[in-house]
Amino acid sequence: SLTELLTAAAVLVVILFSSAYSLNKDEFPSDFVFGVSTSAYQFEGAANEDGRKPSIWDTFAHGGNANMYEGDGDIACDGYHKYKVSVDNKEHIYEDVELMANMGLDAYRFSISWSRLIPDGKGPINPKGLQYYNNLINELINHGIEAHVTLHHWDLPQSLEDEYEGWVSKKIVKDFTSYVDVCFREFGDRVKYWTTVNEVNVYAMYGYDIGMAPPQRCSPSFAANCSRGNSSAEPYLVAHHMLLAHASAARLYRKKYKGMQHGFIGFNLLTFGFVPLTNTSEDIVATQRAQDFMMGWVLNPLTFGDYPDIMKKNAGSRLPSFTIKESNLIKNSIDFLGINFYNLIYVKNSPASLNMEDRDYTQDMAVEITVLIENDTSIDEFPITTKNFQEVLYYLKNDYGNFPIYIHENGHRTFRNSSLNDWSRVKYLHKYIETIANEIRSGSNIKGYFVWSFMDVLEILSGYEESFGLYYIDMKDPNLKRQPKLSAKWYSDFLKRKPMDS
Ligand code: NOJ
Repeated sequence: SLTELLTAAAVLVVILFSSAYSLNKDEFPSDFVFGVSTSAYQFEGAANEDGRKPSIWDTFAHGGNANMYEGDGDIACDGYHKYKVSVDNKEHIYEDVELMANMGLDAYRFSISWSRLIPDGKGPINPKGLQYYNNLINELINHGIEAHVTLHHWDLPQSLEDEYEGWVSKKIVKDFTSYVDVCFREFGDRVKYWTTVNEVNVYAMYGYDIGMAPPQRCSPSFAANCSRGNSSAEPYLVAHHMLLAHASAARLYRKKYKGMQHGFIGFNLLTFGFVPLTNTSEDIVATQRAQDFMMGWVLNPLTFGDYPDIMKKNAGSRLPSFTIKESNLIKNSIDFLGINFYNLIYVKNSPASLNMEDRDYTQDMAVEITVLIENDTSIDEFPITTKNFQEVLYYLKNDYGNFPIYIHENGHRTFRNSSLNDWSRVKYLHKYIETIANEIRSGSNIKGYFVWSFMDVLEILSGYEESFGLYYIDMKDPNLKRQPKLSAKWYSDFLKRKPMDS
């Protein structure tokens, strides 16, 4: 149609004159890696095949509780079957790893589905699960792509949730350690970058306080969202056990595998740009408090071996404490920090009105939060959020001792069925990649960057309604063909561009 033609022409003009096409990979250190990200439940599909058993995310998606949206990961992108080329009707169509290689990617961040590898969470290994991850890793190696593996991305085996309420119980530390032992032993000859847990802070807040993510448990004040969970201590317990499980995994790796395998262990959290809603001193103090509650929660133990003082003060006995031994184990348990960054949030002071015994995590934090989500209508906000992204990087560098950092996720949300000419995503990615180049020049220790996501996957908060992918999939297409968006071509051009081309 005429409109399509005009849009295409307009996009072309913007491209030709845009600075997004002058950015160059040579502006980065030579060992810097560029990649894309997915996670098992969001991408693999084959949820009921070859011996995999359900995780808490299967249960959540199938509406064990009233869900906010439709959509499950039964099929998802069918990454389980499409990681390598196969020929269908003489057409070469199933080709995810090849697509990555053709794009010029250095690395791929994916997660292992614990209940595919060890269906009951503990006990026997599923040989087909083992085979799948071996095949995928080998295919990546054959294409010169480095595997960056996350060991837990929100999909705890349901059997462990049923047996002892999963991450709420300290028993999880032992089972997680045995699971990662299998992963290190089986894949560690080829995988060098391990992240124990994805977005621990969001998992604890969304899964156990407000009940919007698996396992959908709630503090009493959000009880309307859930039918499970009734203790306002749960978010704190869960993050505590994740830190302990991570530290135990790191100790195991260092003792048993590091000498032979020479890999690195990291931990992942969601970071935000925090901005006081007004210039009042109350909002400025509240912003610091929100940072401590949402990021210091994880970063203080990893750096100093203990929680921020304000958390201890406001949460009292609901916040567990570390023994000296645990604290020493957690301190310095990471070789790198994985951070996800998407948007900024505005913070307003909201004094806790309840007594300490009656409060939950959100009330302990005592702030009101407004999330600025970048969608098509807020492109003008980009300069603000890249500035806040810089602030996060300063904060990590100055307050937390400049860990090596991988940007594990960064990406732009659009409605799933919007145009393949996703210029807003190109503009977003370009701004962030440019910011990273500048920050490395001024001393940030950033080692790699992964776009969330490789393709449109099942989204944790919105199912198949919104997406971040570089490739579009029409969910009605039986082949789930990967269709490149403008952003996929742009990213690939960026990765392949030589300095003299620009
Ligand atoms: C965070 C998560 O790690 C990932 O699972 C999610 O889909 C993206 N960010 C986007 O919301």
